[in-house]
Amino acid sequence: MKRDNPLLPYLATLDEVVDLTPDVKLFRIELNDPEVRESFDYQPGQFVFVSAFGTGESPFGLTSVGYRKGPLEVAVRRVGTVTGSLHDLEPGAIVGVRGPFGNHFPLDEFKGKDLFIIGGGIGFAPLRPVITSILDHREDYGELTILNGARTPSDLVFAPEFDSWAAAPRTKLELTVDAGDESWTGRVALIPRVVAELGFSPENAIAVICGPPIMIHFTLIELKKLGFADSQIVTTLEGKMKCGLGKCARCNVGEKYICRDGPVFTMEQISQLIEQF
Ligand SMILES: Cc1cc2nc3c(=O)[nH]c(=O)nc-3n(C[C@H](O)[C@H](O)[C@H](O)COP(=O)(O)OP(=O)(O)OC[C@H]3O[C@@H](n4cnc5c(N)ncnc54)[C@H](O)[C@@H]3O)c2cc1C
Ligand code: FES
Repeated sequence: MKRDNPLLPYLATLDEVVDLTPDVKLFRIELNDPEVRESFDYQPGQFVFVSAFGTGESPFGLTSVGYRKGPLEVAVRRVGTVTGSLHDLEPGAIVGVRGPFGNHFPLDEFKGKDLFIIGGGIGFAPLRPVITSILDHREDYGELTILNGARTPSDLVFAPEFDSWAAAPRTKLELTVDAGDESWTGRVALIPRVVAELGFSPENAIAVICGPPIMIHFTLIELKKLGFADSQIVTTLEGKMKCGLGKCARCNVGEKYICRDGPVFTMEQISQLIEQF
């Protein structure tokens, strides 16, 4: 159901709040109006604005999948005013939701290909629905390698799902941290180094990456060394956003608006945008 005024949020209720890491919470959000709930459809990669009333609203990638028709899920890292207010809310609180906005990961184009999903820190949030979709339709895709990295072991997001990801058919889960602790027996290395070590083949493959700009920069260098072409690398961009509708020009990169034309782009598209400057 489309709103007459897309700047007005739908009212929604926080069903559940789960601590994912010391500074990231998963919010399960139920839209209040049953008609809106039923018609609210979205794809992996799309985002919503969530408002903490009295404070403001911020964009967050949807980390649930629309076809399961469950509550909307967003993983929110506490960094400032709005995210701080959201973190202070308890289950049962009323929030606002605008969206869904943006384009989505081209999962149809991924079919039949090997996939290398690389996420750093909270950047892993928009990748979770990609993984869920692939695992729910496992026979449609080739080999799946998931690389999830974070600063420390307790900063790895979606830990409760690691066992089921690692046990899925033709799926490898690789975890890495910048710095371990006394209980960590896994890998200690920055994501770009792990990409180089894994030596993933670019043949009939797609790499999907999301994370802090510095991680993306150095991961791209390693993917290029492995032979990945720009058209085989997909990422999501973040930017300052106000409307989410391609109207306010807060989020433009060249002639494109991240909110409307993105946030999902191939590196080929990003290179073309940079050339336009
Ligand atoms: C399309 C899109 C999808 C996004 N998806 C997610 C998501 O799934 N989960 C999530 O947690 N965030 C996500 N973000 C980022 C999120 O929107 C911002 O973190 C949020 O708007 C910050 O609002 P605030 O009022 O809490 O911070 P502000 O009060 O505006 O900022 C406070 C301070 O934090 C800094 N800051 C702002 N954003 C970030 C950031 N992302 N990382 C580190 N420092 C920051 C600011 O520079 C400032 O110094 C997404 C952003 C976009 C554009
Ligand atoms: S947020 Fe307004 S144009 Fe993108």
